[in-house]
Amino acid sequence: MKITVVGAGNVGATCADVLATREIANEIVLLDIKDGFAEGKALDIWQTAPINMYDSRTIGSTNDYEMTKNSDVVVITSGLPRKPGMSRDDLIATNAGIVKTVTENIIKYSPDAILVVVSNPLDVMTYCAYLNAKVDSKKVFGMAGVLDTARYRAFLASELNVSPKDIQAVLMGGHGDTMVPLPRYTTVAGIPVTELIDAETLDQIIERTKFGGGEIVKLLGTSAWYAPGAAAAQMVEAIVRDQKRIFPVCAWLSGEYGLKDIYLGVPVVLGKNGIERIIELELNAEEKALLMESAEAVKSVMDVLDGMNANA
Ligand code: NAI
Ligand code: 2OP
Repeated sequence: MKITVVGAGNVGATCADVLATREIANEIVLLDIKDGFAEGKALDIWQTAPINMYDSRTIGSTNDYEMTKNSDVVVITSGLPRKPGMSRDDLIATNAGIVKTVTENIIKYSPDAILVVVSNPLDVMTYCAYLNAKVDSKKVFGMAGVLDTARYRAFLASELNVSPKDIQAVLMGGHGDTMVPLPRYTTVAGIPVTELIDAETLDQIIERTKFGGGEIVKLLGTSAWYAPGAAAAQMVEAIVRDQKRIFPVCAWLSGEYGLKDIYLGVPVVLGKNGIERIIELELNAEEKALLMESAEAVKSVMDVLDGMNANA
């Protein structure tokens, strides 16, 4: 198995480190446009192998796509991260240019690769990769829901003083403030979360989750990387090991949930073919309304990208 991670910054390097440490692939290529940067990070990661006792090999590349040839899965993290006061959408123009070039180069050398997009604004950058990859949408999708549910689950675990392992949750919609956590589908070791926590506290946790990315930007001056890198690696693992895991993933919708021609977070089954199935939950009227609101927010940024492409 060969995995490429494009962007050797905070998220990309963390993702490569998790992939290597957990031996998810035997060959990991870390590529960045900055001279020597990916080589340096890859060398540092490789030097943890004798300490952490694994043999997956990470190698670095300064923009040499030949080295990514025949990758099975490619994680795209290249782009600018959010700075304080910036929304994810502020990043669109710069990151769309980066994601377009990267996708074209990746597909040239790995036409069969599955692409996992991480760059922000996530839903629209995934759409951008899809437009430029020109492959089946089941092979191009974005990482956001795994991170957002991890934040939600971590907050719940702290509040309830239980293991985060026992918290199961699903969350839908765009990767932004309009995301839709679903308390009705949240359980703690099979117990509905609403039986363990009062409505007001649960609402506070949901609000904190929606702004979970911004909370870290405020604290660090840049966006998160440990949880995002680990979340992308978990998706790669599900693909590489054909695990058929159910994750919330930013997927291309063709009528599911009454939505069409849009990338949006929905629960899917992930396996060796990428998105193997989109799961359609029964949503109540309130949940449906929130999902539609989120879809409108994402669509408006997709329209910005379409407008930029039309004028290019
Ligand atoms: P970073 O600045 O640490 O790393 C980005 C890397 O991309 C840099 O090393 C840069 O040199 C590289 N890069 C830029 N243009 C490139 C190109 N054309 N080809 C190859 N490499 C290129 O940023 P960080 O923190 O790693 O974040 C990366 C992206 O992921 C950002 O857009 C950020 O907003 C997004 N993000 C998304 C999350 C999600 O849940 N989907 C969570 C966290 C971050
Ligand atoms: C995050 O949610 C900023 O998308 C990034 O941490």
